[in-house]
Amino acid sequence: MLMDIIKSRHSIRKYTDQQISREDLDKILEAGNFAPNAGGGQRSMMVAVHNSELAEKLGRMNLAKFNRANLEGSFVSAEQPSVIDDPKMKSGFYGAPTVICIFCQDNFLFNTADAFCIAENIVLQATELGISSCIISRGEETFDSDEGRALCKKWDVPENYSCQAFVILGYIDGNQPQSKIRRPGRIVVVE
Ligand SMILES: Cc1cc2nc3c(=O)[nH]c(=O)nc-3n(C[C@H](O)[C@H](O)[C@H](O)COP(=O)(O)O)c2cc1C
Repeated sequence: MLMDIIKSRHSIRKYTDQQISREDLDKILEAGNFAPNAGGGQRSMMVAVHNSELAEKLGRMNLAKFNRANLEGSFVSAEQPSVIDDPKMKSGFYGAPTVICIFCQDNFLFNTADAFCIAENIVLQATELGISSCIISRGEETFDSDEGRALCKKWDVPENYSCQAFVILGYIDGNQPQSKIRRPGRIVVVE
């Protein structure tokens, strides 16, 4: 049931070394490719890094320009601590062996929105396949270096595109966390 998949999806930040299969990755990418997109323009693109060494490198680049000062006092999760909770972490990708980088056209009003629609399709499809995931931000900063720009060029990402989001993928190391209790007052129904 779709609702079971929605409720059993959690952001996972502890991964085993086991790589996901190419077959599963292709299915996850297909789900991303069929996400809703503003104006039907299909402006976003995905680059899937199915290589744990390169994913680790990108995860470190993702944290290189992370300014924790802006987030002082924030708390994300005790069960799955994030880079906000644990300043000792060296990678923003938590050791996940695969990462999908979602790029979208610059100067397009809905570039971030389009990217996150893709990200949501990805995490739900991954959950159905028993694959853990987490959406990760700081896309632009990650590729804002000579090394980052060279990778984008190598991957044929158009020059007027920027990374809006990542989804990391792999198998959970440890137990599934619980969902946080939902804050009341977030739903209003008007008949
Ligand atoms: C826009 C957005 C950006 C996020 N960026 C990060 C991130 O950079 N690092 C991280 O560990 N989690 C990130 N997350 C995951 C959230 O922390 C997570 O969804 C939230 O704590 C709720 O937990 P759940 O996904 O397990 O329900 C992001 C989620 C969203 C929607």
